[in-house]
Amino acid sequence: MATRKPARIFAGIGAGLLILWLLFMSRTAPAAVGIRMADWKGTGLLRNNKPGDVINDVFNASLGFEKIFVVGLPERTDRRDGITLQAAFSDLEFEFIDGISGEKVADKAIPKTTEHDRLDNGAIGCWRAHMNALQEVVRRNLGSALILEDDADWDVRIRQQLYDMALSTQALTQPLAGTTNSFADKSFRPPPEGPPKGVPEFPINRLPKTVPATVTPYGDSWDLIWVGHCGMRMPPADSPVPRGRVVSVNDESVPEKRYLWSLAPPFTLKDDYPEHTRVVHHAQEGVCTLGYAVTQRGARALLQEVALKDVGDPVDILLRFYCEGGKGRRNHNCLAIQPALFNHHRTEGPRSAMSNIGSHEGWQDKPSTDMTRWSVRLNVERLLDGQEMWDQLPNQNKPE
Ligand SMILES: *[C@@H]1O[C@H](CO)[C@@H](O)[C@H](O)[C@H]1NC(C)=O
Repeated sequence: MATRKPARIFAGIGAGLLILWLLFMSRTAPAAVGIRMADWKGTGLLRNNKPGDVINDVFNASLGFEKIFVVGLPERTDRRDGITLQAAFSDLEFEFIDGISGEKVADKAIPKTTEHDRLDNGAIGCWRAHMNALQEVVRRNLGSALILEDDADWDVRIRQQLYDMALSTQALTQPLAGTTNSFADKSFRPPPEGPPKGVPEFPINRLPKTVPATVTPYGDSWDLIWVGHCGMRMPPADSPVPRGRVVSVNDESVPEKRYLWSLAPPFTLKDDYPEHTRVVHHAQEGVCTLGYAVTQRGARALLQEVALKDVGDPVDILLRFYCEGGKGRRNHNCLAIQPALFNHHRTEGPRSAMSNIGSHEGWQDKPSTDMTRWSVRLNVERLLDGQEMWDQLPNQNKPE
């Protein structure tokens, strides 16, 4: 018995310390990660690629697109301040595209070929803002453009993430090396004997050799890449959409699953893949238009299919019809990435400021950016001071 007593005392002290530690953590967590931006290499940078290869353009001031446009209402100067600061710290060049509030869009300017009510003004304004951006891409004959909404935020490591994405989209859509019309993903352009069964998967560190892209870093045949969304389906085995996936495991910039959510069930990324996995695949049932890239061909087709055909649904649903073929639209070569690379930033303060479309109630206590670990916006002060990055979504579990 006597030998047990000290053990109990130690246990008591241990429990006390644990409670103190928990109290302390709950007040200070999440903590700084202790990593500087320059120390994070991603998977992409570990690869050797040739100088002069167009894929290196993902590191330029427009992330390998010809232009970056930010759409939003000019009166939301607060958002313009925020995204200007983010872009400055990411060395990005961009231009604003003025959105328009829905009530200013004339009935006659909204194509209507089926019987339905006019969409609410929020949805109409959002649709028109995006059409204005696409109109600009077409009018200026830009090779490609990245279109972001003005409350988008991204990870400090955006270029490394995009480099990996470029490797992935090229693997899915460029012809196999030495061929012109044969693809690693046989469900993308099915061979004469017909499309294969199942879901072709390619690990990012063992990608098939393909013809290097020459037109854009992301490939030479895409129409749209959905890089910012609130949910996306991975085309399942029976999907008519091409089903190939490039899988990148151990991507430290992906937060743990408990931080991930999706408005497009089932959430295959969470259900079927390990922690810290990012997947690039063709787009299906995307939700939200927070960020997407288009090529010139893609933008022209979008004006035709989404600006000039029946506006019976919000713009993200119209993009689905554009991508997958639906409601009188042809299908297009649309890719997507999960988790998204551009996510909503929520400022602190009244929630009503969060959206010009829906109404939000209550108060946002702390600023946050969905599913983004080293958010640029949340690190502005650290970037200003040259400090280590702050991880707003720190790991709880040990790496697998
Ligand atoms: C970045 O690269 C793209 C693709 O090659 C190119 O169109 C664009 O002009 C480049 N942007 C800058 C700012 O150099």
